[in-house]
Amino acid sequence: MANSIKKIGVYTSGGDAPGMNAAIRGVVRSALSKNIEVTGIQHGYVGMIENKMLPLQMRDMANIIQRGGTILKTGRSSEFLKPEFRTTAANNLKAQNIDGLICIGGDGSFRGAQALWSEHQIPIVGIAGTIDNDVYGTDDSIGFDTAVNTALQAIDKIRDTADSHDRIFIVEVMGRNSGWIASRVGLAGGAEEILTSDNIIPVDKIVENLKNSRARGKTSSIIITAEGQKPGRAYDLSEAIRKKSGLDAKVCILGHQQRGGSPSAHDRILASRLASTAVEALLAGRKNIMIGIQADKLVEVSLDIVTTKEKQGDKSLINLARLLSV
Ligand code: F6P
Repeated sequence: MANSIKKIGVYTSGGDAPGMNAAIRGVVRSALSKNIEVTGIQHGYVGMIENKMLPLQMRDMANIIQRGGTILKTGRSSEFLKPEFRTTAANNLKAQNIDGLICIGGDGSFRGAQALWSEHQIPIVGIAGTIDNDVYGTDDSIGFDTAVNTALQAIDKIRDTADSHDRIFIVEVMGRNSGWIASRVGLAGGAEEILTSDNIIPVDKIVENLKNSRARGKTSSIIITAEGQKPGRAYDLSEAIRKKSGLDAKVCILGHQQRGGSPSAHDRILASRLASTAVEALLAGRKNIMIGIQADKLVEVSLDIVTTKEKQGDKSLINLARLLSV
């Protein structure tokens, strides 16, 4: 089929993630090198509804590969959940002669993309950009590696003070219901316990493990907890441990610092590969798909699957962390 696409739109949506700029650069430069025009849509679906769009050129991409955040800004649009606002967005895209879209975001953003395709037949290819790494169909997402390393640096520092004072620390990491950051950072940071939504440990057991650690001669302990649906659960856990045992567990919530900072080499490379393949796929007439990575191979996964299936955590990392933190 002859390529009918002459102009594409690119946007970042949902929580920002380090490497999103490298992905924007990859999309823009891949498309322009094929003589396809590119429009940047600002603030994700918010800008699509409010018509905040701007042309992007080669030189606009200079010096952004190393920058965290997203030059296009991002957003979480509740309006886009309503069909009438999606119609407004589709009309705005058509008025700008945009024939296809590249969406950089997580599963919530892909649900919006899927709706634009099914209701308005706007071809969309997605790239997973989220620190949570919770998108089904891809082993890895842009920003995850950087967020893990940012959290790890913080944990290494906490370990110094925990060791100096012989203290227990509970460190809460981001990821909403996903335990990917927690399990990676827990293993890499030598944590004794890693708590995630699929690895719930009763407080009695945590207390017993902490007491056993002390009896074996450990003087300090790090417990990692994923934030879950609501940040702050580390405080509840600390209080529960204190009530059960009298042990004092200090709390550190790492929060949004995990979303910022210069992307790692890994995330820049991932973003560049996904972006250029996404442009090729869109120009080849592919639609309603995500470009993911599985066993280091780039793959196409239908957005229908991505948005309906749930990615499982990796329990083996948690088990290994426990074995090695004796
Ligand atoms: O999805 C990325 C993420 O950072 C989650 O880990 C976290 O729960 C959420 O976004 C926080 O969102 P916001 O910045 O909108 O509070």
